Formats: sequence, structure tokens, C-alpha cells
Amino acid sequence: MNEVIKLLQSRSSVRKFTDQAIAQDTLDKLIQCGQAAATSSFIQACTVIQVEDKIKRNQLVDLAGGQPYVASAARFLVFCADMNRHKLVCDMHNSKMESGYTEQFITATVDVALFAQNVMTAAQSLGIEGVYIGGIRNNIAEVSDLLELPTLVYPVFGMCLGYPAQDPETKPRLPLSVVLKTDRYQDNNDTKTISEYDKQIREYYRSRTGGTKETTWSEQIAGMLVKEARPHMKAYLQDRGFILK
Ligand SMILES: Cc1cc2nc3c(=O)[nH]c(=O)nc-3n(C[C@H](O)[C@H](O)[C@H](O)COP(=O)(O)O)c2cc1C
Repeated sequence: MNEVIKLLQSRSSVRKFTDQAIAQDTLDKLIQCGQAAATSSFIQACTVIQVEDKIKRNQLVDLAGGQPYVASAARFLVFCADMNRHKLVCDMHNSKMESGYTEQFITATVDVALFAQNVMTAAQSLGIEGVYIGGIRNNIAEVSDLLELPTLVYPVFGMCLGYPAQDPETKPRLPLSVVLKTDRYQDNNDTKTISEYDKQIREYYRSRTGGTKETTWSEQIAGMLVKEARPHMKAYLQDRGFILK
């Protein structure tokens, strides 16, 4: 196995960090690695806000549902899907931008995800670890106001980055036969395979938590998907000029 594959397969989310700072030139390099990701039709729709202000950081801890590592990480980045600059560019050419298409929402969001994962992987190659923070969407309108986001920009997720003070065990993923199909969407006996995987995940949680958590993957997912999923998102996105048509 080469080093890149080892790095990718040993990744896990890290939520405890040392006090060591991440230098601005290192952060800049990580962002440039994000920019090197593929981008749909060259739209380059990702904008990153590095949150340095301590008061804002603490507000973001609360807005993200009380996640203390948002403040304790050396860096906290907010990854935004940004179609605002495309409006500026259309204005430069006296063109009227046709905004609000669901397709534009998808392409901008995909751009952000590809950009961010490049940042995360580049960080890990330098011994920096982190965790994504989707929790900022709990209070997405307040987060947008805090960061003064214009319309046609929305924060997709945050990311904590820092030098690690923990080394969590890698979380086992679904067996390959469940996620890789050939030529058509086959049922490769998925229910049975997932039941087997459940045993592995139960064991993973048992060993990671000293026996205090014993849930399986399917229990966790079934428990989550009976609840509403941030129902405010549709109205928020429409208010910001996304998914209108
Ligand atoms: C878009 C996205 C949002 C996430 N949001 C949070 C979050 O708000 N808080 C958190 O602690 N972890 C968050 N995570 C981390 C996931 O919980 C984690 O990736 C998953 O449980 C798998 O664990 P692993 O990354 O250690 O393999 C998020 C991950 C992604 C990709």
C-alpha cells in the first residue's frame, strides 16, 4: 500500500486538540489544496471563512448545538456554497444571472464537499486532524448573520482543525458488497450483510466507550431517520436564493 492509501484508510474524526497553533501559511496551503479539487463547469463555488474572533467562535459553539471543539480547535473554517460571485461576474458583463436553479444548488454544494475533503486530506498529510461540523446548520440563519453572508451564499458545514490530542480507532465502514454494485443496483443480500456489519459496529462502540455504548449501525440510522431532519433548511435556502426552481 502506498502512503496516500494508508492515510485515507486510517482517517477518523478528531475532536480533541493540543494548544499548538496552525500557521497562516500552512492554512493558506491547505486552502490552495482545496482549490485544486475538480469544480463543476469551473464554477469555483466554494468560499471559506476562517473564524478567528474568539467571541464568534464561542457563539458558533452554541449555534452548532454545544460542540466545544468549535472553540478549542486551532482553526475553525466555515465552508460556504457561493453563487454570489457568479452574480458579480454576470454584472461585470451586463448579463442577467438566472439564479435559483436546484441544479446550481447541487453543483455549488458538491464543489464545497470536494474542496473541503481535499483540505482535510492535505491537513492530515501534515499531522493535522479535524472534524466536520454539520451542526452549524442547526441554526443556519443565525450563523449566516454572524458571518454576514450575502444572498446566494450558504454555509454547508464547518471544520475544526488542529494538532491531535487523541488517536481514535478508525470506524469500520460498510462491507464493499453493499456499496459497490456492478452494472445495475443489485441486492447482494444487503440486509444479511448489514446485520453482520452491525455486530462489528456494536463491538467497535463497546471497545471505544468501555462498554457504555452498544448500538449497531442500523439501530443508529433507524433511530435518526424517524426524526425530522432540520426542517427549517428548505425555507432558509429559498430565502437565500437557492432551490427556487
Ligand atoms: C458533513 C459532515 C458533518 C458532520 N458534522 C458533525 C458534527 O456536527 N459534529 C461532530 O462531532 N461530527 C460531525 N461529523 C463527523 C461524523 O460524525 C463522522 O465523520 C462519522 O461518524 C464517521 O466517523 P469518522 O469520521 O471518525 O470515521 C460530520 C461529518 C460530515 C461528513
